[in-house]
Amino acid sequence: MTDAAGRVQELSDAGLRALESARTESDLLEVKGRYFGKKGAISEILKTVASLPVEEKKRIGAAANEARAALESAFDAKLSRIREQERVAREGKERVDVTLPGRAPAAGRRHPVSRTMGEIIATFQRLGFSVRGGPEIEKDYYNFEALNIPKDHPARDMQDTFYIDGMGGDLVLRTHTSPIQIRTMEAMRPPVRVIAPGAVYRCDSDVTHSPMFHQVEGFAVDRSATMADLKGLLTEFCRMMFGPELPLRFRPSYFPFTEPSAEVDIRCVICRGAGCRVCKTSGWLEILGCGMIDPSVFGFVGYDPETYTGFAFGMGVERIAMLRHGISDIRLLFENDLRFLSQFQP
Ligand code: DAH
Repeated sequence: MTDAAGRVQELSDAGLRALESARTESDLLEVKGRYFGKKGAISEILKTVASLPVEEKKRIGAAANEARAALESAFDAKLSRIREQERVAREGKERVDVTLPGRAPAAGRRHPVSRTMGEIIATFQRLGFSVRGGPEIEKDYYNFEALNIPKDHPARDMQDTFYIDGMGGDLVLRTHTSPIQIRTMEAMRPPVRVIAPGAVYRCDSDVTHSPMFHQVEGFAVDRSATMADLKGLLTEFCRMMFGPELPLRFRPSYFPFTEPSAEVDIRCVICRGAGCRVCKTSGWLEILGCGMIDPSVFGFVGYDPETYTGFAFGMGVERIAMLRHGISDIRLLFENDLRFLSQFQP
């Protein structure tokens, strides 16, 4: 009798201690099952007191209920403490440190050819030129015929030109941007001041030639456009592109669609004129072709050569980019190797 009451007290104390040392929710549930759950030790004692006298049963029953209530409330208190600790631990791990520096996206940069192209275009726009384009798959007529390049001209050779199959030999990948002169003059009356940038194609490949490269064409037609205007314009352009100090020269040359024709050389940017491998010891670098538009070209577009004169020029963008950055192999510009490309300013 006293035995049963003492046992309830013992179990109550042991249960409270076990609850106290429980670390997790499942520890707690295990303690509850062992001491005061439906099949716990305290319930087992209650079953064994059935045979005792009523007074005893009441006393022990009351003690057992009291013990169970104390254990229940200790259980609830501990459970909420454990849950609170778990929440704090979890939120501590999940917390966002707003002072950490962000991860910047890898910023791309413009390709040196695009940049050089953009600078050439911007320079001529400042000088009053507007921009026009034309197709890369071009008619023989625009690429050659109307530019006064006769059928037997070496530029028409299969060695230099990509012909498009099955179109009666009438279509080519344009070999230069000059056909845009013809297309523009067909569409507009003078005065015109136009530049025409774009990709061009030639069957050619070595350290200074790529089968696809870029040119910027330019031309102006007016009542009194002269060779002096052309010289002044291109001198200004070279100063804007390569700096005011760099000497340049106009050297007589030949193009079928200009008369007279010239090529512009700048003082070698590598050796400053002393002579080196890049300028082939001449001290000069050729950067563009130009001239007064041949009156026979006007004949193709219906401009009156008695009323109008014009000048034209054309330059290779890769060549200018290579000279400005001291790049010795044109293929570097097309390999898309980031170790090369990331050396250029964004
Ligand atoms: N179209 C020529 C070429 O690809 C470059 C050129 C030379 C363009 C003289 C011109 C010019 O407009 O006047 O080699």
